[in-house]
Amino acid sequence: VLTLILAESELELVPEELKSHPSVRAAARRRDKRPVRTLLDASVHHDALSDYPDGERRGRPDLTHFFLLLGLDSVLNRTGNLRLLVHTRNDELIRVDPATRIMRNYNRFTGLMEQLFRNHVVPSERTPLLRLEEGWTLKHVLEKEAAGAHVTVLKEGGSPVAPAKWAAERAAAGGDACVVIGGFPKGDYRSDVTAFADATVSFHEDPLSVWTVAMEVIAHWEAVAGVFERA
Ligand SMILES: C[S@@+](CC[C@H](N)C(=O)[O-])C[C@H]1O[C@@H](n2cnc3c(N)ncnc32)[C@H](O)[C@@H]1O
Repeated sequence: VLTLILAESELELVPEELKSHPSVRAAARRRDKRPVRTLLDASVHHDALSDYPDGERRGRPDLTHFFLLLGLDSVLNRTGNLRLLVHTRNDELIRVDPATRIMRNYNRFTGLMEQLFRNHVVPSERTPLLRLEEGWTLKHVLEKEAAGAHVTVLKEGGSPVAPAKWAAERAAAGGDACVVIGGFPKGDYRSDVTAFADATVSFHEDPLSVWTVAMEVIAHWEAVAGVFERA
């Protein structure tokens, strides 16, 4: 099983300090919600974020949306070979049941995440497809959720290796594998994630998007795991 972690994802509710900003209030009013109950979204709250710490990278729920769509729909997941975890900038951990079907529509996804932040579980405690837990540093996530696994951190500027070669080498080594992808649009990991990784690698000399990197990892792991039965 491959554990894929989207780390330090820019997924959060509107912070208290931004709740009175005119663009935040207007957007919340349009949706008939209290500002602090809405997801921070750079495409809507860009004015508020322009002058806010780390504002150039915050409010990117779309990265988590793409990551979950790609992972949950993959054949790797359908064949029981993938575990997805989302870690957030505020050290929450979202556990994802492999049977979850994430809505394609971004606005509906936003609503689901707001419900998750409010109730900590969706759709319900009886059928907990997504569960949010607080107090998980990335170090703690890797210690507990990747215990015994080989941890590869993907990072622009890591040791260069092609995705196919990386997957072949990891498969040949045997054992469980865990891959960490940054869930932010620019900049670097805020924690010293490479200190608790077994390898820090780069797939390409250029910066790649979250979904491109996730696609490469999943597709090449599918190849080495032999999940497609056709010759
Ligand atoms: C949009 S990037 C963030 C940009 C940032 N400069 C970086 O790569 O550290 C989000 C994540 O995609 C992955 N990524 C981006 N470019 C990559 C590359 N060339 N090789 C491997 N992973 C990459 C990393 O996990 C990164 O944290």
